[in-house]
Amino acid sequence: MCGIVGTIGNVETTEILMKGLTRLEYRGYDSAGIYVNDQAGQDHLIKTVGKIAALQAAVGPQVQGKLGIAHTRWATHGQPSVANAHPQFSPSKRFYLVHNGVISNFSELKATYLAEQTFASQTDTEVIVQLIAQFVEQEQLTTLAAFQKTLSLLAGSYALLMIDRQQPDVLYVAKNKSPLLIGLADGYNVVTSDALATYDLTDDYLELHDGELALVRENDVTILDQKGETQGREPIEIKVEADAVGKGTYPTFMLKEIDEQPAVMRRISQHYLSAAGKIAIDTDLVERLAQADRLYFVAAGTSYHASLVGKRLFERYAEIPAEAGVASEFGYHWPLLSAKPFFIFLSQSGETADSRQVLVEAKRRGLPTLVITNVANSTLAREADHHLLLHAGPEIAVASTKAYTAQIAVEAVLAKAVGARRQIAAAQELDLAGQLAMAATAMDEITDNHETWDQLAAQYLGSATDAFYLGRGIDYDVSLEAALKLKEISYVHTEGFAAGELKHGTIALIEPGVPVITFITEVATADHTRGNVQEVKARGGNVLVIASTTCQQLGDQIVIPALTAELMPLVTVVCGQLLAYYATLQRGLDVDQPRNLAKSVTVE
Ligand code: F6R
Repeated sequence: MCGIVGTIGNVETTEILMKGLTRLEYRGYDSAGIYVNDQAGQDHLIKTVGKIAALQAAVGPQVQGKLGIAHTRWATHGQPSVANAHPQFSPSKRFYLVHNGVISNFSELKATYLAEQTFASQTDTEVIVQLIAQFVEQEQLTTLAAFQKTLSLLAGSYALLMIDRQQPDVLYVAKNKSPLLIGLADGYNVVTSDALATYDLTDDYLELHDGELALVRENDVTILDQKGETQGREPIEIKVEADAVGKGTYPTFMLKEIDEQPAVMRRISQHYLSAAGKIAIDTDLVERLAQADRLYFVAAGTSYHASLVGKRLFERYAEIPAEAGVASEFGYHWPLLSAKPFFIFLSQSGETADSRQVLVEAKRRGLPTLVITNVANSTLAREADHHLLLHAGPEIAVASTKAYTAQIAVEAVLAKAVGARRQIAAAQELDLAGQLAMAATAMDEITDNHETWDQLAAQYLGSATDAFYLGRGIDYDVSLEAALKLKEISYVHTEGFAAGELKHGTIALIEPGVPVITFITEVATADHTRGNVQEVKARGGNVLVIASTTCQQLGDQIVIPALTAELMPLVTVVCGQLLAYYATLQRGLDVDQPRNLAKSVTVE
């Protein structure tokens, strides 16, 4: 979703901003813009629609200065266009502003304060910059006072950087709900919504809390709370490994990340499981979970699909009832809670606004919370009572792959730890290190054969406009994720189905040639699913069966090693990921940055 970079005090401002925007491309965007001020009265505003390359081409050598802000926009209010791209500016062209988030009361603010003004864009952001300008230019407030007054009126989420042309020695910064970090570099400062943008400039960052603002100067940062009182803040260290954010020899991030999954399994095993079978997880967390009478998993998208598997893992190995909820639904439709609930949030980015609003409410109710995330220091990691890291390395492709399998592996570690604490035999008997090692080997075999998946994608999905993934139980969970992978990057209409549900309606859509990819790894239901396969075949469906060694039959196209039932998605999903990947490449589409999608969904 939208990305922000700003800097003050470095003569290479333009390079810093453009490099930062390029690194934020992975988050998804549809337009971009940059404003640079040379601190001697010259300034430059350039905005383009489409890829950063278009902005780069439009930024000439004359764009230089020591103060600047830049933005990638993912449209919420108003279509992708130059007028709607950020920075937005005041009619007087004195104030320039970039914004991540959504201002929910922008129409009311417009009607109350800016009824006489004309607007150059359809954005909620322009309302913010016009308010600041009005309070300075008509009410004669100082810029700081106008900034504070404006912030006090805003409802919703924002990370803001604002420049007053008449004060080129300061960058105005504010945050509420949307992520923002102030990076302390050598002789200058940077501000960003994502440390990936500035990882080569500093490892030291100041975090702003919700509702705070900061005045960032070349060698100094002042943080003020909502009452205007100065706040002390120690820097935190955020290290991003340089080689982890590159593609290496891979053509795309997605393929690199699919192929990294065996290594991620081994890393999780090394990190959380000792050779002696001990589990390295905070005992306080394990104890609190062991005392819970019901677990509530909350997540979105792929992370929600991983939480469906987490529910099964905890019910089997820890014998604690569990529910999995979609965050955007859960937040506004809370179920009746049990007496001793525990909330587990799954979020690769740790920034998903839908999940965060449930976390905020859970905390308000005094309920215990854990976040399982890939990003240390992310908003959810900071705000939950406990957090566990995925150790998957940065995931750059918009479509989540290695984070899903890492989430399942970490859930399994935790379920085993809690089950062992509760003396559940299934947990005590589970050789998780062995299972993760087997999963890694099976993943290796699948990812070693790119050509097979390229051919299967061509054969089954080549000209498809619709596709179905079927399975029962744990295979149903993975069919939802495999379907999401295919639809989000190839734009083929795809559905994941509980195989038994097919004949209750959806079978009407099966006609000759429709691809139906079927996972069969659950022994107890394998025969029933085979029956569904026959029903599909009888109507001309083009069936591809992916079965485990425990369920295989002659004629199955893909056979994979069997793991303990709840861990089968670690392997089956890789088949789904590669099918989606090659079906998308064959359509000539952008695998890493699919249309309309954002990596980190920071608005509700
Ligand atoms: C799909 C995908 C999304 C995310 C969802 C939640 O490939 O990546 O469905 O899983 O937006 O994001 P996180 O996990 O960052 O909370």
